[in-house]
Amino acid sequence: MSLHGKSMVVTGAGTGIGRAVARALLAAGASVTLVGRRAGPLGEAADTEGGERALVHPADIGDASGARAAVEAAVERFGAVDGLVNNAGLARFAPIERADLADLTAMLDVNLLGPVRLIRAALPQLREREGAVVNVSSVGGALAMPGRALYGATKAALNSLTRSLARELAPHVRVNAVLPGPVDTPMYGDLGLDAQGTDDLIAGLVEATPLGRFGRPEEIAGWVCNLLDPETSGWVTGALVAIDGGRSA
Ligand SMILES: NC(=O)c1ccc[n+]([C@@H]2O[C@H](COP(=O)([O-])OP(=O)(O)OC[C@H]3O[C@@H](n4cnc5c(N)ncnc54)[C@H](OP(=O)(O)O)[C@@H]3O)[C@@H](O)[C@H]2O)c1
Repeated sequence: MSLHGKSMVVTGAGTGIGRAVARALLAAGASVTLVGRRAGPLGEAADTEGGERALVHPADIGDASGARAAVEAAVERFGAVDGLVNNAGLARFAPIERADLADLTAMLDVNLLGPVRLIRAALPQLREREGAVVNVSSVGGALAMPGRALYGATKAALNSLTRSLARELAPHVRVNAVLPGPVDTPMYGDLGLDAQGTDDLIAGLVEATPLGRFGRPEEIAGWVCNLLDPETSGWVTGALVAIDGGRSA
């Protein structure tokens, strides 16, 4: 891999998929700025592999100054930003008539505006360094998702952003997305559903997934690293890569 020595910013890096991405990048020899609101999980994620090449930067990407400061911190510590992984996300599931529209605003803020803020903040660096963006979207942005329409709509918007920016920022910055199917992460403990609703959802997702199980965060992280790596993906931009156990097949 040619990620060795590169400087990467990963949002939502303390838990789940983001944590696996941060660890994989550190293991590949990259420097990583780990961004999320809670310092504790970020510190744990950084400790395992990190050392000098891990920078824990607690920040809220729902805030424009927070996103800017995260990029500035990466540049100050590592001298550059070569890659950005927009992984932080929020999921609130409810049928449309019961959905709280404040949840939609919150999801748009983290799932769409957050990536926009980070990309804008990092763009001068990414242009100069011929860098790459990977957005962690969802198969829910491409499939019909009854009961989860508002979350799906925020991820569909992120898919659209990915494709349009791939053209707008070419040839200097590559922009791709991964679309995970159901992955075993802490997200399933905080969906706004009751325990029975969560259990039913999980059972339904396993049934709807041809490979018959949830994915592991590491199974997504490997693809994120590949898309960041110019050696494997230097001719890939605007791709929406489904990593979903066959869910969207
Ligand atoms: N798990 C799945 O089945 C699945 C499927 C498809 C797509 N995804 C997507 O994968 C991504 C990662 O989710 P996950 O499954 O790994 O769940 P997760 O463990 O809940 O990760 C979400 C991360 O986002 C961070 N975050 C949330 N709001 C933030 C904010 N305002 N500012 C900064 N960081 C924020 C959280 O950290 P703090 O709370 O400390 O801020 C947390 O580390 C999300 O975009 C999700 O939509 C997940």
